[in-house]
Amino acid sequence: MSIRSRLILSYIAMVVVPIILFIIAGLLIMAFFRGDIRELSSLLPESHNYKQTVSEDAELFGDIKETSLVNPVRFNDPSFLLAIQEELNRTESFLIIRQGEEILFSAREVNHITAEDLPEFGYHSSDNNIEEINHKTYSIKQHDFYLPEKGIASIFLIKDASVLVSLTQTFYPLLFTVLLLILVVTNGILTYYVSRSIVKPINSLKSAAQKIKEGKLNNSIDVKGKDELTELAQTFEAMRLQLKESATVQAQYEENRKELIAHISHDLKTPITSIKGYIEGIQDGVTTSPEMLNRYIQTIYQKSNDLDHLIDELFLYSKLDLKKVPFSFELVDLKEYLLDYVEELGFELEKKKVDIHLHYDHTACYQVHLDRDKIKRVFSNIIDNSLKYMDKEKGIIDIELSLGKGQVKIEIADNGPGIPSEAIPFIFHQFYRAEQSRNKQTGGSGLGLAIARMIVEEHGGKIAVESGQDIGTKIMISLREVS
Ligand SMILES: Nc1ncnc2c1ncn2[C@@H]1O[C@H](COP(=O)(O)OP(=O)(O)OP(=O)(O)O)[C@@H](O)[C@H]1O
Ligand SMILES: [Mg+2]
Repeated sequence: MSIRSRLILSYIAMVVVPIILFIIAGLLIMAFFRGDIRELSSLLPESHNYKQTVSEDAELFGDIKETSLVNPVRFNDPSFLLAIQEELNRTESFLIIRQGEEILFSAREVNHITAEDLPEFGYHSSDNNIEEINHKTYSIKQHDFYLPEKGIASIFLIKDASVLVSLTQTFYPLLFTVLLLILVVTNGILTYYVSRSIVKPINSLKSAAQKIKEGKLNNSIDVKGKDELTELAQTFEAMRLQLKESATVQAQYEENRKELIAHISHDLKTPITSIKGYIEGIQDGVTTSPEMLNRYIQTIYQKSNDLDHLIDELFLYSKLDLKKVPFSFELVDLKEYLLDYVEELGFELEKKKVDIHLHYDHTACYQVHLDRDKIKRVFSNIIDNSLKYMDKEKGIIDIELSLGKGQVKIEIADNGPGIPSEAIPFIFHQFYRAEQSRNKQTGGSGLGLAIARMIVEEHGGKIAVESGQDIGTKIMISLREVS
């Protein structure tokens, strides 16, 4: 749940929960007073069993009223009145009969009430008037009638209501206190839970940020939920992973740089050492015949050439790596381009007894943007490898052009020894040479395919390899087709 809806809900709950509790409390009190909660009301003295007393009172009062209409004379009979009072005693109600301004009959318990204290003849505000007489509260039922020959008279059924009042007086402050308590507790609990659900993830984010600041990138941030803070934590986690990855890449770069320097020094040192050795041999007069001298000079020349080639490759590689090689792209049909290139290769391939075949669709157009010289470097590095590592009597190189998904694909396959599967993921890395090639006297620095990859990528294309030992090697290049 989002923080916003959580806050809204908690505010609603802060209002609604006390209201509901208040209503429940109110209903309970009402039920209590109406005698619906019998267990509670039974705890009180019988006279306070409100429902029962009310109905008994009402019944008796009805009888009295009826008698006053049918047979009013009976109210002159004290024994009749005493009998009524007797009945009323059970419900702790008391009878007063007022005739004119005089009290005609009054129960002993209420004989301090004077005729003036009572509501006047004809006063009917409700069936149960609450009156305060001599600092005491009474509930009064009144019925007015006419006594033959004596004139106006009123019957009063009086009940001490102070218990009820005192009960109300103590109950309401109690209720108010309970309500206040409910309000404080509800608000407290809700505030605690809502703030905890916000503060807890913030704290874990804080400690995660602290760790990242200290360079510790391995502690993952785990905040569960679906709110804004979880999203923030997820973004934070993504940032941590990104940082970790950059740190790894940085470390890898550093490692590569060190390796590169070591490789360069080694690769430069090897031919120079042997050149030096041959020259020293000549100086020391080791070459006893002109043929031998010639062989030495030939070797020195060969080694210098290797050195020159290596420096060339290194130079190109580092310039490509620094993205300092200018590219001049032009629209070229690869079919035409490769036909020319294969023709150019013809002589050398014939010498090495290798057949080359170019397969393409005569009707198709293989238009791409490319830098002629750089792409030539890519093809010659690949074909150089095919020739250099060829182990068959009859070498075959197949170049196949095809179109698909907006790409022009060039596949260069040879029937050479293939590349061991464990070496395949690395052959486009700089200075990588498969074990088998290193052992042979083929020469090379392991930069050829790394350079090819960089050039193809500069063209926005991709380069991949498929190879298996004894099947041969297939290098696949795809470039964006220009239609
Ligand atoms: N056609 C192939 N057949 C067999 N192995 C190959 C072939 N092409 C590449 N390889 C393997 O991949 C490695 C990397 O090739 P790459 O061209 O980058 O380096 P290299 O040929 O050793 O040196 P360089 O090309 O710089 O003279 C080679 O050493 C070789 O082991
Ligand atoms: Mg090579």
